[in-house]
Amino acid sequence: MRALTATTTPADPIAVIAGKRIVLGVGGGIAAYKAVEVSRRLVDAGAHVIPVMTRAAEHFIGRTTLSALASEPVRVDLWEGPDPIPHTKLGQTADLICVAPATARILSALAHGYSHDLLTNVLIATRAPVVVCPAMHTEMWEHAAVVDNIALLRSRGVHIVGPGQGRLAGGDIGHGRLADPDEIVSAIDGVLGGGDLSGVRVVVTAGGTREPIDAVRVIANRSSGRQGHAIAVEAARRGAHVTLITTVELPAEGVVERIQVDTAAEMEGALARLSAGADVVIMAAAVADFRPVDPSGHKIKKDAGLPAITLEPTPDLLAGLGRNRRPGQVLVGFAAETDDLHGNARSKLERKGVDLIVANDVSAPGVGFSHATNAVTLVSASGNREVPLASKAAIAAAVIDEIARIRSAVR
Ligand code: CTP
Repeated sequence: MRALTATTTPADPIAVIAGKRIVLGVGGGIAAYKAVEVSRRLVDAGAHVIPVMTRAAEHFIGRTTLSALASEPVRVDLWEGPDPIPHTKLGQTADLICVAPATARILSALAHGYSHDLLTNVLIATRAPVVVCPAMHTEMWEHAAVVDNIALLRSRGVHIVGPGQGRLAGGDIGHGRLADPDEIVSAIDGVLGGGDLSGVRVVVTAGGTREPIDAVRVIANRSSGRQGHAIAVEAARRGAHVTLITTVELPAEGVVERIQVDTAAEMEGALARLSAGADVVIMAAAVADFRPVDPSGHKIKKDAGLPAITLEPTPDLLAGLGRNRRPGQVLVGFAAETDDLHGNARSKLERKGVDLIVANDVSAPGVGFSHATNAVTLVSASGNREVPLASKAAIAAAVIDEIARIRSAVR
């Protein structure tokens, strides 16, 4: 058995961006102003940024602003300037094309090969990886046409970053907000870096589920979701296409799809949709083992006396994945223990039919829930590996190293 040290320091997240030619496409949406920040960060990281705006984007930001913070003056028109075929030159020489914000119209044009302006021509005239960062109102994002276009683009290997939840134009709140510049730059880094998980589809669950007792009360647990999020971020940094199913509001840079859930049943639903397509499923979430059978739709009043709350077991999601996994899929579970760490973890490994259990002794100082640090034992068929107390980012790196090792052994 080999002891791993947890001193794995994550590499500089923007090192691979230096020297790369990045075409930054900017669509006509209110989030266009954030493209300026994306451009500035890419230039700071050493990229050569060529900005291309659509005509609609000019309603939201000025050419001068974007030109000043990019590496070249902004281009808008297919027919302006001395070059008769700017789109092929830009498409052929780019190392990556990022569109932020990508409107419903740009997504549709890319999905259907409809090239009618400089940006959509560049998008079609390239073999470089394409990262699109959609931003639009929730109604538009959820429209069947947009949903289908996104699925089509994803199936062709286009990287979709965001959108997230938050304030939209006109003061509305909802899904459709452009991913944060940090998240966009980190996704570009992951795509260009071609890390050891490049192209691997990873699903991570994080946080503790909350099971309703009545309209206001829940059965919850002390999981902060920090370790699960750190694992999702690390997998994305190493090139994986990460979907995060989470109960908490923490950031998750580089994650391409994020699904907020509350209950074990919602997590089960999201996993049912996503697990079959995943190469790796990491169940870092603390899923409730019991839930109230029949939660009241109203607040239970205390004058009515002590309520009798009948509990039922939740399905064991990880064990279910273990029974139905496809060949080559790697399954990872967690075990938060207070006694017999190694014995309990190994029995979970076997009982749930998984490849790796990340076990921690939550009674030890600085370990587990509500700490910024953790210490774990990685329990697999090949033995136990100890990862001593370290930041949750460093623990995440050790977990991902172990998963990469298991993947190379099973393939
Ligand atoms: N898990 C799950 N579904 C549940 C409960 C747990 O998928 N209903 C997953 C967790 O995400 C974690 C692993 O199973 O990856 C271990 O969870 P844990 O609660 O420690 O294991 P149990 O089998 O419930 O054992 P016990 O509570 O008796 O320790």
